Amino acid sequence: KDTNLDPLPIKIGIIGGSGLDDPDILEQRQERVVETPYGEPSDALIEGQINGVPCVLLARHGRKHDIMPSNVNYRANIWALRDVGCTHLIVSTACGSLREEIKPGNLVVPHDFIDRTTKRLQTFYDGKAQSPRGVCHLPMFPAFSERTRNILIEAAKELEIPAHQKATIVTIEGPRFSSRSESHMFRQWGGDLINMTTCPEVVLAKEAGLLYGSVAIATDYDCWRMGCEGVNVQDVLRTFAENVIKVKKILVNAVGRISKEDWSEDILNAKQCVCNNTMSGAM
Ligand code: ADE
Repeated sequence: KDTNLDPLPIKIGIIGGSGLDDPDILEQRQERVVETPYGEPSDALIEGQINGVPCVLLARHGRKHDIMPSNVNYRANIWALRDVGCTHLIVSTACGSLREEIKPGNLVVPHDFIDRTTKRLQTFYDGKAQSPRGVCHLPMFPAFSERTRNILIEAAKELEIPAHQKATIVTIEGPRFSSRSESHMFRQWGGDLINMTTCPEVVLAKEAGLLYGSVAIATDYDCWRMGCEGVNVQDVLRTFAENVIKVKKILVNAVGRISKEDWSEDILNAKQCVCNNTMSGAM
């Protein structure tokens, strides 16, 4: 008799940034409106399959793209995706580049972040009656799921889409872009990319026990580069639109790759990490 346990089932949440919220990548689509203890997600979840693998799509800024980064309900988004059974989150995000070698149009799989947000709730363990009990102090190394990152990197390789394999993302509060002095400072700090959404999304995903990986599209050089015009929205949107097809291909390929592996240990470890770092008060 085979004593091995079956691998835990997987389900993959996909959070689309500006321009990657096209539900056409899902087969057998069904809209699902989910309520959470933290309020409403950015939009209905779209459940379906990619090549037979269960997936759920969520438009980070809403399908009408009318929710600015500071007002995205990150907690509700992540909770909703967890609630419908997601084990993995693979997401896309438009970023400015803080490095010469990361050119606009390039794809990047980030591994770390610097949080410069100021107005966002970053924990589910907030002491409210309807929230999970306890106080959670979650380690942020590693910030992203290393195995999920590798899947994204391998997917890009197979598709022969060049992708930078590491980057530290600085997330600013916005909605304004950075000043030139800020942009220089972020470079000195070791930032490689800059955006407005990775924090607290990656933090909450880890607190929810989800395996999170991101594909960033560098859309501009922010405003640090001498002799160049700084970032503007038109350029961001145009460069994102020009490159989003590559991200879509990587995500679809990654879904196939994830489904072929056994993630039981990673899933259990992610949940265990949250438990181990949550003080219940009863201790
Ligand atoms: N998103 C895309 N480009 C950006 C930039 N330069 N700064 C912050 N967020 C961005």
